[in-house]
Amino acid sequence: MTTLLQINASIHNDSGQSSRLANQFVETFRARYPHAKVLIRDVAAAEPVPHLTGERFGAFITKPEERSAAQHAVVAYSDALIEEIKQADVVVIGLPMYNFGVPSQLKAYFDHIARAGVTFAYTEKGPAGKLTGKKVYVFAARGGQYSGTPMDTQTGYVRDFLAFLGMTDVQFVYAEGLAISPQSKEAGLAKAAAHIAQLAA
Ligand SMILES: Cc1cc2nc3c(=O)[nH]c(=O)nc-3n(C[C@H](O)[C@H](O)[C@H](O)COP(=O)(O)O)c2cc1C
Repeated sequence: MTTLLQINASIHNDSGQSSRLANQFVETFRARYPHAKVLIRDVAAAEPVPHLTGERFGAFITKPEERSAAQHAVVAYSDALIEEIKQADVVVIGLPMYNFGVPSQLKAYFDHIARAGVTFAYTEKGPAGKLTGKKVYVFAARGGQYSGTPMDTQTGYVRDFLAFLGMTDVQFVYAEGLAISPQSKEAGLAKAAAHIAQLAA
């Protein structure tokens, strides 16, 4: 059975524009694959992922038999996030731009799924990602216009991070200019909707 994992990163939950675009895409996906399993992971609003701290990272690198109960809980939380994305054939990410970057909670989620020896390994040829064979769709919502310019700090970063873990088949859909004017917002959302329809065709 095909499994899709939708990762929402808007602080506005389902009403965020990035979540709405991701939802639009997932609707087309469900229509195409009615038996697909859809998992939702809301990293910012419903269940914010805690930021990585020295203590949390310390838990990751402590040998299992030497971990305290608190460290076991931290690793179990990270393991659960990893198991969830491992089972996904398709990953959908709702990606808002906040203060010129990705939401800090999405960064925190990335920090909890990047585990040496678990989701990537250091080899003689450099790091090798273990989360391979997945198709990823990223729905980026922005107040301004950045795609294709050096001010787009998100696309390269997200693409590089996903590739580091083995996810190299990544498609971005942009809704931009959402805060410039009502007309610009309408045009930005219409362009993204057309792109989603094209992906579904
Ligand atoms: C705290 C905050 C910071 C933002 N910073 C930026 C920014 O740096 N650049 C930009 O183009 N838009 C910025 N915006 C506008 C958002 O990118 C826009 O509202 C987008 O729809 C956010 O995605 P969401 O609706 O899924 O939460 C910001 C919005 C908020 C709430």
